[in-house]
Amino acid sequence: MRASIVLLPGDGIGPEIVEQARRVLEAVAQRWGHDFGMPEHLVGGASMDATGVPLTDEAFDACRHADAVLLGAVGGPKWDDPCAGHRPEQGLFRLRFGLELYANLRPVRAFPGLEDCSPLKRERADGVDVLIVRELTGGLYFGQPCLRETTPDGLRAVDTLSYTEPEIRRVVRLAFLHASHRRKLVTSVDKANALETSRLWRQVASEVAKDFPDVRLEHQLVDSCAMRLVTHPRSFDVIVTENMFGDILSDEAAVIGGSLGLLPSASLGDSRLGLYEPIHGSAPDIAGQGIANPLGTILSAALLLRHSLGLEKEALAVERAVERAVADGVRTQDLDPSRAVPTQAVGDAVLERLHLT
Ligand code: IPM
Ligand code: MG
Repeated sequence: MRASIVLLPGDGIGPEIVEQARRVLEAVAQRWGHDFGMPEHLVGGASMDATGVPLTDEAFDACRHADAVLLGAVGGPKWDDPCAGHRPEQGLFRLRFGLELYANLRPVRAFPGLEDCSPLKRERADGVDVLIVRELTGGLYFGQPCLRETTPDGLRAVDTLSYTEPEIRRVVRLAFLHASHRRKLVTSVDKANALETSRLWRQVASEVAKDFPDVRLEHQLVDSCAMRLVTHPRSFDVIVTENMFGDILSDEAAVIGGSLGLLPSASLGDSRLGLYEPIHGSAPDIAGQGIANPLGTILSAALLLRHSLGLEKEALAVERAVERAVADGVRTQDLDPSRAVPTQAVGDAVLERLHLT
């Protein structure tokens, strides 16, 4: 098949990890006879330095017209001035919101071979397989008003938490669809004992559940969900929640598998176009050293093959190759400093195993 995949390496370790995912996509194209165009564009701080804005209209249009977008990471101390007019993250938000990618899928699994990297006891982390579905274009990240003002008591800042019924319904429905192909349990996470948006969330989730009689719905408050993720992580199948809760819970869940560096994500809407990125950040402290873990990005490329290009066989082959590399002891420093290999060597290890499948 012919497909256009826009690469947005971004900031910090972004370029190093996207390069390894690009090599994997190229190998997939070669092995299965596909033709992937992979133009690169700037996003985040890199784009601000070159153009003054975190995402140019030209880069946004390139993404809009592509089949899929693969992003590394955005942000870093260089652009952290709280009073600056632009922030690198705005590039990411423009993509998520502008492309209407309202559902962010974050699959968390315990990797065989990485049991000792998890901060949880082996008997708790073993066999964990949770899909977090995070709402991505609403809530505190996008609510208006969002402002800062001077008052007689000093500065005041406002963010707004707002959700409409359709915004909740479409993401919860997507979570149910996924659960119906998995273990048929949806945990809808909210803070209904404190927030009106959460009470609406709970109501809409219960309505959606009626269309999926074979999937069980449970509601859980976000604070107790945070606790259950470390005490009984295996008790979850699909978690669906609003933007900010999903951001926090997915970082917490990510370490169950051993490292944040392993976790991929897919941001999807109603079309096939998706944005794929590892859930970790730009890690400026290790940028440019060639030691970052590229597996979260490579696994994001696998999700891209599956969800935007419909190439299930190829997606599985990439996932198997990553699993084999990990099982064979290939480690970056986040997983095991004592036997860490460079980013490029991890890419090589995945490519070798891809050719073996
Ligand atoms: C994520 C990140 C972003 C978010 C940051 C970089 C703005 O933490 O994708 O989880 O909060 O959505
Ligand atoms: Mg986050």
